[in-house]
Amino acid sequence: MNQFTSVHDVTDISALLKRMAQYKAQPLRDQHIGLGKRMGLLFLNPSLRTRLSTEIAARQLGMEVIVFNAQQDGWALEFGDGVVMNGSTVEHVKDAAPVLGQYLDILGVRSFPGLMDREADYAERIIQAFIQYSGIPVVSLESATRHPLQSLTDLFTIQEQTSQLFRKPKVVLSWAPHIKPIPHCVANSFAEWMIASGEVDLVIAHPEPYALHPSFTQGATITYRQEEALLDADVVYVKNWSTFEPYGKVMPGFDDWMLTPEKLALTQQAGVMHCLPVRRNVELPDAVLDGPHSWVTRQAANRVWAAQAVLSEILQRYSTAVLSTPQINAQ
Ligand code: CP
Repeated sequence: MNQFTSVHDVTDISALLKRMAQYKAQPLRDQHIGLGKRMGLLFLNPSLRTRLSTEIAARQLGMEVIVFNAQQDGWALEFGDGVVMNGSTVEHVKDAAPVLGQYLDILGVRSFPGLMDREADYAERIIQAFIQYSGIPVVSLESATRHPLQSLTDLFTIQEQTSQLFRKPKVVLSWAPHIKPIPHCVANSFAEWMIASGEVDLVIAHPEPYALHPSFTQGATITYRQEEALLDADVVYVKNWSTFEPYGKVMPGFDDWMLTPEKLALTQQAGVMHCLPVRRNVELPDAVLDGPHSWVTRQAANRVWAAQAVLSEILQRYSTAVLSTPQINAQ
């Protein structure tokens, strides 16, 4: 793996999950593999879990870590090709990213979608620019359309919490209300990883206007009937997202999609997941978040192992690349 932006960058999901379990059991087992290597965490948007869990993971592998809150502390970046930069942007990514590539060995980037221009967002212009111009491995800390470290964590958490079942768990991705337009990243990515793993039966329940792009959901059962979907569920993953068509909108009239204790009672004592942050009593009620079925804290705790497994794969590739570099002066 020399970049991590989606499940498509992973050759063996099971091996990655196994590596996560090893780090969870023994966090410092590879504490030297990153010695002498430096990770940069570039945030164009806010974060709590991703920032801290990735930093902890990198340090547990022996790496030095620099966090850069680019939106607050950096020059305003330009991503457009051929732009006459006489406006608010000060530095082009074509100039900034190669410099980061000189200072760092691995670069993590967080950048949310604008939710104004669907083509630009779905082209993943920002993270792709860092991949193209930095010249070093890039790890998505959530991009315009995906959140792969979150989804890897989610898959691990589901496996961990449902290991006593002698069948595939029924997992319901259940749309939740929100007060403002929210990116599709977590929902897209969750669906993509669950389907790619082949380890769960995935049902996606959402109001009719909130269909996700089929390229992420092919292989899942999709329904507009939430209560029907919840019957016999083992896991309910609660998440809001805005509309895909028209792009990035909130449609009124679906506040009754919040997962109440009464709806949860329809399930098989399902565990409730949410990537956090969560708006209490809008997306999920206190009674569910504070109740015995909530997995949200253990889910967030597992973020460390996902980051550590991904970074260690990249570091191992580095060491293999160094070892296999032809010795041109050997003769
Ligand atoms: N779930 C998640 O990515 O949380 P943060 O936005 O706080 O990093």
